[in-house]
Amino acid sequence: MSDKTLVTWHDQTVKRPRGAVVWFTGLSGSGKSTVANCVDAKLHEMGAGSFVLDGDNIRHGLNASREILSPVFGEDFANRFGLGFAPEDRTENIRRIGCVAEIFCSSGTLALTAFVSPYRKDRDLVRQTVNASNDGSNSDFIEVFVDTPIEICEQRDPKGLYKKARAGEIKGFTGIDAPYEAPEKPELHLQGDLPVETLADQVVGYLKSIGKC
Ligand code: ADX
Repeated sequence: MSDKTLVTWHDQTVKRPRGAVVWFTGLSGSGKSTVANCVDAKLHEMGAGSFVLDGDNIRHGLNASREILSPVFGEDFANRFGLGFAPEDRTENIRRIGCVAEIFCSSGTLALTAFVSPYRKDRDLVRQTVNASNDGSNSDFIEVFVDTPIEICEQRDPKGLYKKARAGEIKGFTGIDAPYEAPEKPELHLQGDLPVETLADQVVGYLKSIGKC
């Protein structure tokens, strides 16, 4: 780090075995959160420490929107720190949560993140961040592509957002009028139209195979 930062990294005294970051990516309605929560339940049952970080939930707090922040902190503050869905807002959303996921991983937890994370470069940056802190084995970041055709996501439309996007009431909706860059070499490629249990078992099986649970 450059001296210009005026902050110094402090190594921690306690050395813990690392957890992992299981990074679910896919369209809205693809099943990321549902599968992540099913994996979480299975890991909890096995006594493994895991936790779900979900895009919709994180956007209520840590990565709140301008609309949430404005009444409490005022408009200038909200404009500065609030996040929406413009490309750079999504980049900052993923950068922040990537850092949080890395902290979970360092604490020995299996962080299960469920974010659309549509940009390859943003996901790759999280991969670098997480793997920069490991022993060189480069296995702490597990990218899981929840590959559900947009037609199915749109049929499911659990929050009615595709309908709004098609009606032009939401601009820049991923898969409709904003891009989704599918992973090129994900550690796991899930067929999102299969039953949730099957998909969750594939994830847990993978984690077992690399000794993470
Ligand atoms: S990300 O693109 O920055 O990774 P994130 O996962 O945090 O997105 O949030 C996605 C959720 O926000 C979706 O599941 C959906 O409920 C909601 N959402 C609202 N507006 C949009 C939009 N323009 N594009 C995608 N999702 C949106």
